[in-house]
Amino acid sequence: MFDRFLRACRREATDVTPVWFMRQAGRYMAEYRALREKHTLLEICKTPELALEVTLQPLRLGVDAAILFADILLPLEPMGAPFSFEKGEGPVIHEPVRDRAAIDRMRVFEPEEGLGYVLEAIRLIRRELDGKTPLIGFAGAPFTMASYLVEGGKSSDYFRTKQLMWGDPESFSLLMSKISEVVRRYLHAQVEAGAQAVQLFDSWIGALSPEDYRTHVAPHVKNILQSIEKTGVPVIHFGTNTSTLLEAQRDCGGTVIGVDWRLPLGEAWKRIGYDHAIQGNLDPLLLCAPRDVAAARARAVLAEAAGRPGHIFNLGHGIVPQTPVDNVKALVDVIHAYRHEGAA
Ligand code: CP3
Repeated sequence: MFDRFLRACRREATDVTPVWFMRQAGRYMAEYRALREKHTLLEICKTPELALEVTLQPLRLGVDAAILFADILLPLEPMGAPFSFEKGEGPVIHEPVRDRAAIDRMRVFEPEEGLGYVLEAIRLIRRELDGKTPLIGFAGAPFTMASYLVEGGKSSDYFRTKQLMWGDPESFSLLMSKISEVVRRYLHAQVEAGAQAVQLFDSWIGALSPEDYRTHVAPHVKNILQSIEKTGVPVIHFGTNTSTLLEAQRDCGGTVIGVDWRLPLGEAWKRIGYDHAIQGNLDPLLLCAPRDVAAARARAVLAEAAGRPGHIFNLGHGIVPQTPVDNVKALVDVIHAYRHEGAA
């Protein structure tokens, strides 16, 4: 049971399909909301005891892995770009980075110095979970992080990011290189602190054409992933809206490729190749649909995997705050009760 998730990452046979959820800790849980009444999101992230508490909250739902409670934007502050989370707006970068001078000022820091609190949280969590549940660490991928830095917050079209990418490719590349080196060191430090797998979140990469991905993003992502894969720890390479990017994304690296719901899982796996494990891919909004509808669609995802070792069940993206917590528990039970036809 303990190593279901890790075995599936290595494409080894498991008793049942392992399952965990992106954003499995968060506002849909009453115990998370209660803690958030007393602390800001950044306070929770920066206090290892609180990060530990929140990381453990969703484990009562029966998931097969824990994910470190943190945020992909945390490295921006030690790089020199402080930000805050504003109610209803999401992240706000106090001074967006839009020109060469600002990019030159961005710092590449040592993880123990800039993000020691995350590494301490990992050590605490490992002590608590050892032999029970494996721990996933994570970081944001350079394009997704750059988009927040350049836009100053969330965006629907990545206007300023693309202006920089096409208008001043040299400066964009410098920014991407600096973020990549930060992320590379940060993920290595997470593995050293005890993370048993890591996920690279390239959540907004689907905004790019395959050509722009290959030219402006792939070399940076490759640098990170090929370096981390040398540790032997499984690496999950995740993106959304990647129907046209899957092969290019796979070529950059990752033991496991994370896919969203826009492609049937079987089709995505065939294109990625069976020499990789796959993670996904139920539409997260199905957790707000009638339970029998969600269960049927979850079984359809499992059927797409066809009993091949190397499928980790997840959503195509994070759990949304409106999700009833009982639906999440019920879904975990559906996944664990499922048996592939012909299996013993
Ligand atoms: O998955 C987990 O349970 C681990 C924790 C985690 C958080 N953020 C905590 C969080 C993880 C893995 C992330 C990743 C993250 N953060 C991503 C990539 C994954 C994705 O969802 O695409 C991105 C793009 C961010 C940046 C970010 N953080 C945004 C855009 C927001 C605001 C979103 C919103 O719904 O308001 C956050 C805030 C954030 N990070 C919350 C949580 C639980 C919201 C909860 C709160 O305000 O308390």
